Amino acid sequence: GHGASHVFVILGASGDLAKKKIYPTLWWLFRDGLLPPKTYFIGYARTKLTIEDVQKNCLPYMKVAKEDEAGKLKEFFKLNDYVAGSYDQTQDFVKLNKAIEAKGSSNRLFYMALPPSVFEPVTLNIKAVCMSKGDKWTRIVVEKPFGKDLESSNRLSSHLSALFKEEELYRIDHYLGKEMVQNLMVLRFGNRIFSPIWNRDNIASIVISFKEPFGTQGRGGYFDEFGILRDVMQNHLLQILTLVAMEKPPSTHAEDIRNEKVKVLKSIPPPDLKNVVLGQYIGDPKGSGEAQLGYLDDPTVPKGSVTPTFATVALFVKNERWDGVPFILRCGKALNERKAEVRVQFKDVAGDIFPKGEVKRNELVIRVQPSEAIYMKMMAKTPGMSISCEESELDLTYGSRYRGVNMPDAYERLILDVFMGSQIHFVRSDELFEAWRIFTPLLHYIEEHKPKPIDYVYGSRGPMESDELMIKNDFRYTGSY
Ligand code: BG6
Repeated sequence: GHGASHVFVILGASGDLAKKKIYPTLWWLFRDGLLPPKTYFIGYARTKLTIEDVQKNCLPYMKVAKEDEAGKLKEFFKLNDYVAGSYDQTQDFVKLNKAIEAKGSSNRLFYMALPPSVFEPVTLNIKAVCMSKGDKWTRIVVEKPFGKDLESSNRLSSHLSALFKEEELYRIDHYLGKEMVQNLMVLRFGNRIFSPIWNRDNIASIVISFKEPFGTQGRGGYFDEFGILRDVMQNHLLQILTLVAMEKPPSTHAEDIRNEKVKVLKSIPPPDLKNVVLGQYIGDPKGSGEAQLGYLDDPTVPKGSVTPTFATVALFVKNERWDGVPFILRCGKALNERKAEVRVQFKDVAGDIFPKGEVKRNELVIRVQPSEAIYMKMMAKTPGMSISCEESELDLTYGSRYRGVNMPDAYERLILDVFMGSQIHFVRSDELFEAWRIFTPLLHYIEEHKPKPIDYVYGSRGPMESDELMIKNDFRYTGSY
């Protein structure tokens, strides 16, 4: 191609995120021919490394096929450079800038795979010496944590907005890169049947849940500062809620969609404490390996920590469509399974004529992972001579309906979006503001009062109190969960 060249800079190139996610993602995009021609990669970190070192660090996560080892993989690393430098010395960024300029006049992407403690000096240095020139653009990709509460997040936002324009900033929430999360818009606005029933007259409750079958796995230091509310609920689950609850945007343009997302967030008051259940996992003496260890047994977790590893919170959207409908967000580590899903539970059939208890509620389930699916639980006559009813489902399981279709990883889609300049699946600063506004009172309450979270056993379904809270908020267990 004759287009501009692109330089993708990975800041924090020797770190965990870079080696587990960013380099592998860049490799897959390169391998599949999805990147613009003349795209170069430059790693930057404090450690002195060679490209061979970088390759060795990342290789275990890159899933390289045998046939690519000799050719494609070599080609990829030939496009890679590495610059060692500190995060606060401008002269080191001058070195980085020279390495970028060596690739000719180019568009520049900076991926901040860095701890928040160095966000400020790094962005200042990029602004001072690394911005692209002329008609070429610069885009900055940032990852959570975007602060710890409303105030610290606002401070970070004003720092960034003093340096960069909003259209240069790409705040990643990788859940927005998942197939089924992106599908919510199509499901809701591309089907005639859902819009008339998508409201408080027909929907009893909505559950959005995230479960993981492992604990903090040595990330205890990071995790303890943030907890499950900041790690998963305030971002990933709230983003899903927003897409489930928002009004139809006037178009599919990023600003139109994000305007609607902000509106719905503005209608959500902070949760009431009576609608919150917090838990922390304890070891299972009968479990194997890691399962025997509770959260507090992690040596990187401070003694007596009350940081929740599990939370269920019912939120309410105070607008005409949703007033009174609980949106129950539930997430936890060290549970019985890996699952992320949305359950839209419809109200009971009015004037039910069937024997009491036979007719169950309709439920629309959007399973984000594992094994993407949309299914509607519905009643059907038990086939055959029987005259009773039973619960069945209309089932759109992607593995069977779209057999063999490659489902790209969330990071692949999102990084490609950054190249293409599409901000639909990125978090705008006012969305972030609203998300923190909703959760900050609860987070501050936890910090001040240190309520002891409820123990739950590693590998269990979480605390019973969570189920009780869901039932209180008009959720009915129709099948097995
Ligand atoms: C991250 C959290 O944002 O999401 C992790 O920091 C969590 O704690 C991860 O494990 C889950 O992502 P996924 O894509 O595996 O569901």
